[in-house]
Amino acid sequence: MSAPVLTAVAWPYANGPRHIGHVSGFGVPSDVFSRYMRMSGHRVLMVSGTDEHGTPISVQADKEGMTTRELADKYNRVIAEDLQGLGLSYDLFTRTTTGNHYKVVQDLFLALWRNGYVQVKTQMGAISPSTGRTLPDRYIEGTCPICGYDGARGDQCDNCGNQLDPIDLKNPRSRINGETPKFVETEHLFLDLPAFAETMGSWLSTKTEWRPNVLKFSQNLLGDMRPRAITRDLDWGVPVPLDGWRDAPMKRFYVWFDAVIGYLSASVEWARRTGDADAWKEFWTDPAQGYYFMGKDNIVFHSLIWPSLLLGHNGAGDRVAPGGEPGAFGTLNLPTEVVSSEFLTMSGSKFSTSRGTVIYVRDFLKQFGPDTLRYFISVAGPENQDTDFTWDEFVRRTNFELANEWGNLVNRSVSMAHKNVGAVPRPTAPTAADEQLKALARAAFDTVGDNLRRSRFKLAASEAMRVVGAANKYLSDEEPWKRKDDLERRDTILHTALQVVSDANTLLTPFLPHSAQKVHELLGGKGVWAAQPELREVDDLDEPSRRYPILTGDYADETARWESVDIEVGRPLDKPAPLFAKLDAELGETGPDWAPIEK
Ligand code: MF3
Ligand code: ZN
Repeated sequence: MSAPVLTAVAWPYANGPRHIGHVSGFGVPSDVFSRYMRMSGHRVLMVSGTDEHGTPISVQADKEGMTTRELADKYNRVIAEDLQGLGLSYDLFTRTTTGNHYKVVQDLFLALWRNGYVQVKTQMGAISPSTGRTLPDRYIEGTCPICGYDGARGDQCDNCGNQLDPIDLKNPRSRINGETPKFVETEHLFLDLPAFAETMGSWLSTKTEWRPNVLKFSQNLLGDMRPRAITRDLDWGVPVPLDGWRDAPMKRFYVWFDAVIGYLSASVEWARRTGDADAWKEFWTDPAQGYYFMGKDNIVFHSLIWPSLLLGHNGAGDRVAPGGEPGAFGTLNLPTEVVSSEFLTMSGSKFSTSRGTVIYVRDFLKQFGPDTLRYFISVAGPENQDTDFTWDEFVRRTNFELANEWGNLVNRSVSMAHKNVGAVPRPTAPTAADEQLKALARAAFDTVGDNLRRSRFKLAASEAMRVVGAANKYLSDEEPWKRKDDLERRDTILHTALQVVSDANTLLTPFLPHSAQKVHELLGGKGVWAAQPELREVDDLDEPSRRYPILTGDYADETARWESVDIEVGRPLDKPAPLFAKLDAELGETGPDWAPIEK
């Protein structure tokens, strides 16, 4: 039996609409992978949601003059709609402000606490000298000790992306009134990371299949595992379930602590919504496999922090405190693989909302539809290195590969069969050329599948497109349109071409699920070939007065399977409509008017 697969997708912050850089990191790769896994017979649970706590949300709420909750509500919906538009097939896309998430975070924390992996320590925290009140990290600004950027915040530097402590800032000042904060002792909870270093080291050493960037980066960090604060002086986050902490207005879990636990809480929420509250366990215990998808700035949280939290919950660190044992969720699997992308940049700079060079998913989908973007990210995205997005390359890939190569192959094969036969023609006496082409297509299921399983999306997409190229060459060589005096041969060629169109469509389905559905129908297929996510309004399971949108779908009903299926002779064929519109070449020079190229 195929192992159940958990696809854990990084949770986007609910602090603004997502741009194409975001979805090239976590979104498209995780969906291509999940669709392939489902097609090849695995039970898949794909979960994520919006990350709604902490500084990123508070800062944006201040800017937009809203409460944190209003802001989170606003962007949770915007983001869910965008991800739906892209066709990302989440079993559950939820949020971190649900009653269920709070409970799971607190339960997981209590296991760490009981097993002795959390220590109370004092740290220097900022207060405002004029009011004597705690100054939240986000209200402190100064010079980044790492890159020298002067607008760094107390929790993080937006220029170099590093996580900071307010006390590390040079020349710190309050963003409220400019005064220099005073640093006084404040209590926080620390995760005892050194208590996992050895176990983590041997675990990582088994991960030889990981992308080298992820593995090396994580192994380097192992040498310097220090206790890490999991609480912050904040008013927006999950409360700490300990006496003396529970009601403290300015002590909350650090946003990253609660967010990574989201993978588990979303699995639990999904199970509760199916009516079988234990259904999540299948995806978190052997032989299940867990694949985590994200951009590279998230690696440490997934390859070190989250596995450590899981080990601590399981009671399985290097030195288990007396009485250490699995917590409320039993023994949970560590990640099988942490798949991280590099950054999609635009003209050299990391996609950054603050710099203005932003291409929002929403605008993109409105003008170009989901599959052109999915294809571009898969075949030309930042899989192994930072990659510059250019309109020029987008136009070239769309026009030459999707429209000319794939769209045209589908179009001419189906329209010739439609015009001459009105149905899938009957083949007779296949030649070596026919057999060769069909064999090439059949063999691609293994090569493309193997690459997809290992998250090598570029290779997988190009191997699938090689079949398309071979089929186009076959048609040009065999010239079925010139076979007026040998209709048997003509029909055999057209049958071969349609068979390979069908196979290529299956191979391309994970990348192009929307157009794959169309091709399925052009070939006379019925029903749902590739299922799409739906947005549903639901009640919070624990606070029924709250409602929110989730993404979910009936993926078990889709008929796409990762195999070559013989096309049915005699199936009626209609005149096809073009699959992909060609883009105006000028777009490559100017960009669209909502994201013009600056000259
Ligand atoms: N919100 C984070 C970001 O956008 C990602 C959180 S991923 C999770 O960088 F692991 F915490 F869920
Ligand atoms: Zn910096």
